[in-house]
Amino acid sequence: MDIITKLVKIDKNIDYVVAEAAQFIKDGEIVAFPTETVYGLGADGLNPKAIKKIFDAKGRPQDNPLILHISSLSMLKELTRDNLERAMPLIERFWPGPLTMVFNRSQLVPDEITGGLDTVAIRMPANGIALKLINVANRPIAAPSANISGRPSPTDAETCYFDLQGKVPMILDGGPTEVGLESTVLDLTSKIPTILRPGAITLEMLEEVLGVVDQDASLIKDGETPKSPGQKYKHYAPVATSYLIRGTDRKMACAIREFILNNPDKKIGLMISKELATKLVDLKEVIKSPGSRMNPEEIGSSIFRILREFDKDEYDIIIVEFLDEKNIGAAIMNRLKKACSNKYLGE
Ligand code: TXA
Ligand code: MG
Repeated sequence: MDIITKLVKIDKNIDYVVAEAAQFIKDGEIVAFPTETVYGLGADGLNPKAIKKIFDAKGRPQDNPLILHISSLSMLKELTRDNLERAMPLIERFWPGPLTMVFNRSQLVPDEITGGLDTVAIRMPANGIALKLINVANRPIAAPSANISGRPSPTDAETCYFDLQGKVPMILDGGPTEVGLESTVLDLTSKIPTILRPGAITLEMLEEVLGVVDQDASLIKDGETPKSPGQKYKHYAPVATSYLIRGTDRKMACAIREFILNNPDKKIGLMISKELATKLVDLKEVIKSPGSRMNPEEIGSSIFRILREFDKDEYDIIIVEFLDEKNIGAAIMNRLKKACSNKYLGE
């Protein structure tokens, strides 16, 4: 049966509202809340029954493990049996922030969190509401992105409401998220630290601290089986059929015009940079630009919102510009390739 979902905007009421949300968590309920990356769907990370509610609300496969969100180092120490020598420089540099690290788990961590693995993913989010919620609830909070499984992660509270209305008692509205892409997942249990999911803490930034960093083979070669369980599922997919396009601006602009001419009965949308958009001003009604190539962070913060907007406006086909894969571009293209099932227009 559906329950009533309260969507609460946070301002000066923060202490009062977070206390109510923390009570839901302690009572074994689920609550959606903002982080700096995307909105999370949280539950008491040590309570198997509460964790199960997350999987039910999202329709998430049980073997896809969850991240535990913490607010202090003492929480971390209780959740892992590792010594923290390797993690410490990363913690000092990147926490709180969009870096999730995979450790060997302690006995405290329930099987429901890890999907049966002997490891656990942990992060300290850089968002005042999230940190306060964890603090007041006084336990690690398990939280996947607060979307129905298979849809793009929500970057604002209204999108959480759209997906989860009737399934959660409370959604905390902290405004749009800054990063807009899920955290980097870094495995610290392998011989060489390995990126399982790229994010705003980039390969280049991690190499500065660690020296050598590997990337999961599936991130580099298409078709390889990923090590991070979540990476194997179709993800971030809009309803519309989506294609990537690459090449020079001239070539892309020509190919887009030709495709639109050849498909007159289809509603076709373009997610392209401001730069390419200047070559297609006559098509501006169907363009939604995530930003300038000069500002990839801005693009990263907008892609999930725009993919959802195209679906809301009932486009049949979306054409998505391929962007530079350096730095945060690696995380952006990882999500966009999945959204487009790695299909390219004209190739
Ligand atoms: O930014 C984020 O990470 C957001 C916010 C809410 O914190 N959360 C998020 O959670 O994106 P989720 O569940 O959508 O993605 C978690 C990823 C999945 O790819 C999962 O397979 C991986 O982390 N993961 C979790 N535990 C793991 C483990 N023990 N070993 C390897 N990968 C793990
Ligand atoms: Mg997710």
